[in-house]
Amino acid sequence: MRTQVGIVGAGPAGLVLSHLLHLAGIESIVLESRSRASVEATLRAGVLEHGTVELLKAIGVGERMQREGAVHQGIELRFDGRGHRIDFVDLAGGKTIMLYAQHEVLKDLIAARLAACGALLFEASDATLRDIESESPRILFSHGGRSQELACDFVAGCDGFHGVARPSIPDSARREYVRTYPFGWFGVLVEAPPSSQELIYAHHARGFALVSTRSPEIQRLYFQCDPHDDVDRWSEDRIWGEFRARLATVDGWTPREGAIVQKNIVAMRSFVCEPMRHGRLFLAGDAAHIVPPTGAKGLNLAVADVWVLSRALIEYYRSGRRDLLDRYSQTALARVWRAEYFSWWMTSMLHTLPGNDAFQERLQLAELAYVTTSRPKAVTLAENYVGLPLA
Ligand code: FAD
Ligand code: DHB
Repeated sequence: MRTQVGIVGAGPAGLVLSHLLHLAGIESIVLESRSRASVEATLRAGVLEHGTVELLKAIGVGERMQREGAVHQGIELRFDGRGHRIDFVDLAGGKTIMLYAQHEVLKDLIAARLAACGALLFEASDATLRDIESESPRILFSHGGRSQELACDFVAGCDGFHGVARPSIPDSARREYVRTYPFGWFGVLVEAPPSSQELIYAHHARGFALVSTRSPEIQRLYFQCDPHDDVDRWSEDRIWGEFRARLATVDGWTPREGAIVQKNIVAMRSFVCEPMRHGRLFLAGDAAHIVPPTGAKGLNLAVADVWVLSRALIEYYRSGRRDLLDRYSQTALARVWRAEYFSWWMTSMLHTLPGNDAFQERLQLAELAYVTTSRPKAVTLAENYVGLPLA
């Protein structure tokens, strides 16, 4: 098999890249190790930045998102039993965010790729990258019980944090920056209408809690937990007790409760691999970087990476110019590090650190008070949350 761009991974990065290239007349083949059903059913992100929303609309995959997603014009920061609104429209130049689940975005992208006769191979296992330092890289893989080889001009490593692309870069040619946090997020999906119109990010001595939504009937809630905890140790009563305590306000607010239909724990880390390119291999999305979920940046960064990469590949195929490809890593990393900073800042401000350091707790409350009373501080939060314009 041969194509222009071989893409490993059918997550947001791989699928958006494939579609952007298709719209410019560039061929690609996407290899995905999981089944279509599994990709379309995995619950992950929910918040789309302004720029992500505009891009999905512009490439023709925004129709259902506009119908079924919910536009949010702000978020609430809650601490000391009181809520404080961060108004994006006022503070971030009229921009808003969209609540629309990642797996719904993926369903729309997969449908669009298949409608355009795009090559998308699910259950393609054992991908191995070869000759990435040469002009003709190859991807070896198995599909339908047969060994296959895909020859291409470029490889896009869009295979997430645990993929094969990043480790294909020799250790001596990459540097990794890591921070792991001593806490995780316990996420639940609840059959109940939204508890609030906008997301609530709550700081509490018992730990962080987040109220989000998925639809008029389903809520998505998270609370800070021990990353090594076991979801089976948490009964519904115990979970609701934690949410009630962490979200309580002086005027008696309580979350809307309902049946918990799914529970999971996610570990939290910050991670960046530099550079994001080696020879003809280009990394994009979680394959190159991870942020803790507090700033809702992961999916959006993946989309921003492939936007930059697609511009560079299109320029190369149009004019033969390689300078945008040569600058890809540098251009992408500028946004990545800003998002890393924002996600680390939000995480540090809102979570409690094990050990109950009273001094740290007072500093966090002072910072939250500052963010919710100073316009410049609130602007900093708002403009980073809604996201930078795509380069
Ligand atoms: P992925 O989505 O991980 O896709 C990679 C794909 O590659 C997968 O389908 C995988 O099966 C496939 N793959 C892996 N290895 C191979 C291989 N060897 N061969 C072939 N295929 C392979 N981000 C936000 O922006 N907003 C949020 O609100 C948000 N909330 C989150 C909440 C949670 C609980 C979690 C876990 C994440 C959240 N994120 C959020 C992060 C976001 O989900 C990720 O950053 C995003 O999925 C990254 O997209 P990606 O395409 O780079 O990688
Ligand atoms: C959701 C996830 C996030 O990481 C976040 O910051 C806000 C909302 C969500 O899944 O809805």
